[in-house]
Amino acid sequence: MQRWQKKKTHFPLIALIFFVFIAFSILYSESKIQGIHREQSHGDDNGDHLGSAVEEGSSLNFTPAQNLNLSKKSPVSIDKSTTCVSTVRYNGRRAVSAVHRVKSSVRRAASEVEGCNLFSGKWVFDNISYPLYNESDCPYMSDQLACHKHGRPDLGYHFWRWQPHNCNLKRWNTVGMWEKLRGKRLMFVGDSLNRGQWISMLCLLQSAIPADKQSITPNSELTIFRAENYNATVEFLWAPLLVESNSDDPVDHRLNERILRPDSILRHSSKWEHADILVFNTYLWWRQGSVKLLWSNEENSVCEEVDGLGGMELAMEAWADWVDAHVDPMKKKIFFVTMSPTHLTKEEWEPGSEGNCYNETQPISDKKYWGSGSDLPTMRMVEKVLSRLGSKVSVLNITQLSEYRKDGHPTIYRKFWEPLEPEKQANPSSYSDCIHWCLPGVPDVWNELLFQFL
Ligand SMILES: *[C@@H]1O[C@H](CO)[C@@H](O)[C@H](O)[C@H]1NC(C)=O
Ligand SMILES: *[C@@H]1O[C@H](CO)[C@@H](O)[C@H](O)[C@H]1NC(C)=O
Ligand SMILES: *[C@@H]1O[C@H](CO)[C@@H](O)[C@H](O)[C@H]1NC(C)=O
Ligand SMILES: *[C@@H]1O[C@H](CO)[C@@H](O)[C@H](O)[C@H]1NC(C)=O
Ligand SMILES: *[C@@H]1O[C@H](CO)[C@@H](O)[C@H](O)[C@H]1NC(C)=O
Ligand SMILES: *[C@@H]1O[C@H](CO)[C@@H](O)[C@H](O)[C@H]1NC(C)=O
Repeated sequence: MQRWQKKKTHFPLIALIFFVFIAFSILYSESKIQGIHREQSHGDDNGDHLGSAVEEGSSLNFTPAQNLNLSKKSPVSIDKSTTCVSTVRYNGRRAVSAVHRVKSSVRRAASEVEGCNLFSGKWVFDNISYPLYNESDCPYMSDQLACHKHGRPDLGYHFWRWQPHNCNLKRWNTVGMWEKLRGKRLMFVGDSLNRGQWISMLCLLQSAIPADKQSITPNSELTIFRAENYNATVEFLWAPLLVESNSDDPVDHRLNERILRPDSILRHSSKWEHADILVFNTYLWWRQGSVKLLWSNEENSVCEEVDGLGGMELAMEAWADWVDAHVDPMKKKIFFVTMSPTHLTKEEWEPGSEGNCYNETQPISDKKYWGSGSDLPTMRMVEKVLSRLGSKVSVLNITQLSEYRKDGHPTIYRKFWEPLEPEKQANPSSYSDCIHWCLPGVPDVWNELLFQFL
């Protein structure tokens, strides 16, 4: 594991993002499922078992029979030990089919309910209806997101309601939501931001289920919450790049060299295909520089290197192919959550100032505000890919509304595998998390929006 604690202060921005990701992704398996089950395996808390489970090079020994099986798209699975023997520049050849597909894009992804754009609106202070649950009442709360517990003094971030400009949201109704989920599997698939939304959903829903009728099965990749009396599950699948990659183990993965199979979604789709309602996201993992592609039919481990946006587009296309081929909109509901904004640079909303989201207690009121963390070319690409899926996918376009919420991040008020040490607490310019979101908070509203579409 990277010794991030030893790094000197004043990280470059990218290192800070990395640092947060490393810590959070590693901590995933520790995700503080308090109360119910705590039988996690060997020492995940400090990550000191890292590497022990990896047999160097073993994944590269495949049998000829597997290799010849053309119906099987992924002859060698990628894991932490996968290496590129050499790397060439991505030549775009394989994107031809993607270009072809785009031509048929006539449909528009569904993003409105009854003609009202729910994602255009403003935040209204409302300490009567909010928060929808109390931090300390939620047994599934993650220590990474429990900001009050970790010392955040201002609680204003609990009390904001999202008010669309031209209509009202249906009021959140826990039992109503359970009725929609009865007999179904709801699954969140993606990275740590999506995991935050899943935890928010558990916190919103759990109070309606008697303690002896709820259970959670921790698993390194797939975590399942069960509500017996509704015969329903609310699950989270770790798949930060959607396609198969060397980051698929939420605990044990490499960040300095991201290798993925842009044409292989099977590793994850085999786990998500049985869900009835699927909520996907992917974004921030593509923002750490270039990625390496290892196509399924590449036998000599020659990788192609492509920038993050290009890699994300290939992954989104593979995902969209799966949706197109497997989703009957009458039977399965698919949602895609757009990029979650970051607030790493205070100068962007307060020109001339220094610092980050630390100390922020109010949302941004400039209606047009859009930070540099939300990449517009990525948004255009996502739009293009989703539009060819038409009514098979609904967009949860949370980017603009979350842009306003510079006050919603954990900053220094969170725990990694241990509470932040005092000297780090005293140095918020280097140790603030301005990427994830405190709970109760912004992801609750993402879930309220999801509720509108079910
Ligand atoms: C080829 O792969 C398919 C799909 O995974 C599998 O059903 C089949 O048994 C495999 N055939 C051989 C010869 O391994
Ligand atoms: C809500 O906020 C108002 C204004 O800040 C305050 O006067 C009031 O006491 C608060 N009510 C509750 C229930 O916290
Ligand atoms: C949260 O706790 C406060 C004080 O204990 C209580 O008045 C309030 O009803 C609780 N809210 C919810 C949503 O449970
Ligand atoms: C529970 O839901 C599953 C689908 O998720 C269904 O196959 C099963 O029949 C249901 N069981 C009961 C008792 O309703
Ligand atoms: C945060 O706010 C407090 C109180 O307003 C102030 O004393 C402190 O200097 C601020 N810190 C930063 C880093 O802006
Ligand atoms: C999301 O909303 C923004 C405006 O806030 C818009 O520019 C963008 O195209 C939308 N994205 C999608 C995928 O619909």
